[in-house]
Amino acid sequence: MKILIVGSGGREHAIAWKVAQSPKAEKIYCAPGNAGIAEYAECVNIGAMEFDRLVAFAREKEIDLTVIGMDDPLVGGVVDAFEAAGLRVFGPRKNAAVLEGSKAFSKDLMKKYHIPTAAYETFDDPQKALEYLQTAQMPIVLKADGLALGKGVLICNTLEEAREGVKTIMEEKKFGSAGSRMVVEEFMTGREVSVLSYVDGKTIRPMTSAQDHKRAGDGDTGLNTGGMGTFSPSPFYTEEVEEFCNKYIFQPTVDAMAAEGRPFKGIIFFGLMLTEKGPKVLEYNARFGDPEAQVVLPRMKNDIVDVFEACIDGTLDQIELQFEDNACVCVVLASDGYPVSYKKGFPIKGLETVKEHDGYYCFHAGSTFKDGQIVTNGGRVLGLSALGSDLVEARANAYKAVGWVDFENKYYRHDIGKAIDEA
Ligand code: AMP
Ligand code: GLY
Repeated sequence: MKILIVGSGGREHAIAWKVAQSPKAEKIYCAPGNAGIAEYAECVNIGAMEFDRLVAFAREKEIDLTVIGMDDPLVGGVVDAFEAAGLRVFGPRKNAAVLEGSKAFSKDLMKKYHIPTAAYETFDDPQKALEYLQTAQMPIVLKADGLALGKGVLICNTLEEAREGVKTIMEEKKFGSAGSRMVVEEFMTGREVSVLSYVDGKTIRPMTSAQDHKRAGDGDTGLNTGGMGTFSPSPFYTEEVEEFCNKYIFQPTVDAMAAEGRPFKGIIFFGLMLTEKGPKVLEYNARFGDPEAQVVLPRMKNDIVDVFEACIDGTLDQIELQFEDNACVCVVLASDGYPVSYKKGFPIKGLETVKEHDGYYCFHAGSTFKDGQIVTNGGRVLGLSALGSDLVEARANAYKAVGWVDFENKYYRHDIGKAIDEA
């Protein structure tokens, strides 16, 4: 098969690596890709939002399967564009990707179908939001309705902060048009767990669990980022929690989308908070997590092309997902200054070292070729993932690999997987 992957980050590198393991994959393309992905795929210079060019390319090359990695094109309707051209594509249609694209939509869905989540109110008018906040309990959470690169969430400890937050999101529009509407949500406490799942419209197959580290600095300080590191599995995702999620969250979400006339095919990423009152949904995403994919896919035993096809064909009930009984930790190497401002274009040294070791993976998040060299080209540059027989070993291995790769302004968190010691 000829397979096209759309995206350019660490997640798409992990997907490309996994697709390359499939005997079905004869030729892989990636649009636009990066210097790491180029090892498995021919990278083509088409942006993820250039739907017409993507469709034309898929037609011209007779692509058998296109896999969309990123949220923006999914929410924008790239799957609908491929389907309209009679092309096979993995991912939710626009009317289903709204599960990620609008927090107001997803909150209303959960309320209507009794899926556990934090209590909330939605506002289109900043004045109404301010009035509501006068009597609300602090801390409180403000969320811009639309996509905001994982940064449109503000946790406010005081009324003053909340007032500022409304200004930031709805008046100054710091997160762009994503902030025309805002969800105000009850603050929850507990452990966070991510569960990614394959969905074919009616059947859901959850993958092994993972945990992200969203803040930029050690000890969960600093600004929110796309994710600074992950580990899998989460020791807090016990069998009891899993059973609860299967029964009250996972299948009910898939059924709810089908009942709304928005059957979901693709990946549903459940961001969960394990509260004292049981697991609750923090957010849904309509694609693999980044860097969750970088710890979940190295542990997956199945041929991923088979699973993608089963999702498209509605035959996921015939697939049994299998994961290795091991653990994986990913430490993100970023450019100092991320997520605000940072320099690019520094040569990356030591990449070949990672390849030489079994059970270590160097997934490129932001890299490119310059004068025959691989150089940094983003805030998040690389994700170094390592396997181990358990989480403690995997973490030690991942931090060992961090020392093998170097570039100017290299920055990373030193405490990825700290929660493992608290389990
Ligand atoms: P989201 O993009 O909705 O996942 O939010 C980003 C991060 O903000 C989450 O991973 C949580 O750490 C935090 N967060 C979001 N909603 C809440 C909430 N209701 N209570 C506490 N923390 C939250
Ligand atoms: N790592 C969080 C996300 O992909 O949304």
